[in-house]
Amino acid sequence: MEYSEKVMDHFMNPRNVGEIENASGVGTVGNAKCGDIMKVSLQIADGIIQDAKFRTFGCGAAVATSSMATELVKGKTIQEALEVTNKAVMEALDGLPPVKVHCSCLAEEALHAALWDYAEKNNIKIEGLKPPVNDVDELHHHGHEEG
Ligand code: FES
Repeated sequence: MEYSEKVMDHFMNPRNVGEIENASGVGTVGNAKCGDIMKVSLQIADGIIQDAKFRTFGCGAAVATSSMATELVKGKTIQEALEVTNKAVMEALDGLPPVKVHCSCLAEEALHAALWDYAEKNNIKIEGLKPPVNDVDELHHHGHEEG
């Protein structure tokens, strides 16, 4: 298994580790298959993500992808942040080994869950945002159910 230099860098020196106090939105998701957990907290003001932090009980690829994902969403609008998909994060990291692709979903889903939490707290609807899942692994079994 080969990791890119960027993945190694974000794994060894992860950015934005921690929790935001009085966060605007918090999201926690897990993957029942590997047992890993990801928690993302966001500080949002004027529709802009001012700060993003994460904590994970996860593998190295989960650490690297959340580090990069939190870096990418900072300073972005909510709509722009929705474009920070696991694919975008992987590209920013110069790729992940195929067996580690699912780890990048943990970061994306935790980010979405935090945005969902923010929307609920503020009684707003974020266009294009789906309700969060507790177990990322379910995504693969159910597929994406669209009405
Ligand atoms: Fe579980 Fe990577 S093995 S997130």
